[in-house]
Amino acid sequence: MLDVCTSTNDVAAQRANIGAPHGYTILSEEQTAGRGRQGRTWVSPTGGIWLTILLRPPFAPNSLNSLPIVAAIATAKTLNSNPGVRARIRWPNDIFVDDRKLAGILAETKFKGDETAYSLLGVGINANFHSTSLREPHPKATTLEDLLGSPVDREAIIARLLMELENIFNLASSNPNDAMVLLRSLDCSCGKEVRIGFQGEKISGIMDSYESFTKVRIRTIDGQYQQVETSSVVCVEYPNF
Ligand code: BTN
Repeated sequence: MLDVCTSTNDVAAQRANIGAPHGYTILSEEQTAGRGRQGRTWVSPTGGIWLTILLRPPFAPNSLNSLPIVAAIATAKTLNSNPGVRARIRWPNDIFVDDRKLAGILAETKFKGDETAYSLLGVGINANFHSTSLREPHPKATTLEDLLGSPVDREAIIARLLMELENIFNLASSNPNDAMVLLRSLDCSCGKEVRIGFQGEKISGIMDSYESFTKVRIRTIDGQYQQVETSSVVCVEYPNF
C-alpha cells in the first residue's frame, strides 16, 4: 500500500509498462489527482479505498466493454456484505446508496495497435472518512463511515472485493444469464430520467432496461425505444437523481 500517489491508475500504468503481471494490484492511502469518468476529479482523502487492478488479456469477461459493469456488480455485492448498507448500481458505473454516491469505477485500456495491451480497473470506495470532510463537500456523496457510524475494516473489504471480482468475472463468462439477473437485482437506474451524450449527439429519456452488460434500452420522450452501447457514451446525467 502506497501512502500517497497521484492516481493508482497512473502508478498501475507505469508498472504495467515495465512488465507487472495480470492481477497486479496497487492501493494508496491517499490520491492527489484521483480521476473519475468524464474527466472529473475524484477526491481521495486518507481513509478511503483507492485501488487499481491490472488486467492483461486474455481475461474474463471476454468483452472488454463489460468490464466496468461487471466490476460494479462485484463492488455493490462487496459493499452489501456490510449489514445496513444497501448499495445499488447506477448505470454505467456508479455505486449509490439511496441518492448518494458511495463508490465509482474507472476502467482504462491501453492498446498496442489493434490489440489490447492491458486494462486498468480502478475502484474508489468512500470508506473511513465523513463526506463533510471532502475538500469540496459534495451533497450527493456518502461514505461507509457516514452510513454505519463507525470505521470499517478496509482490509476485509478489499479481500472481499478481490474475491467477488473473480467470482463475477467468472460468472459473466460461464453463465451470463445469472450475472444479468444479479445486475438487474442490484440496479437503481431503470425507470429514472437520463440524458446521454454521444460524440455530437444527445438523447433524453427513461432508462428502461439492460439488454446486455454492454447495452441498455432507453425510452425516449416520443415513446420510441433506443438501444445504447455503453462504449459509445461520452456523458450520462440523471437530472433528478
Ligand atoms: C467515477 O465514478 O467517475 C469513477 C471513480 C474512480 C475512482 C478510482 S479511485 C482508484 C482509481 N484511481 C483513480 O484515479 N481513479 C480510480
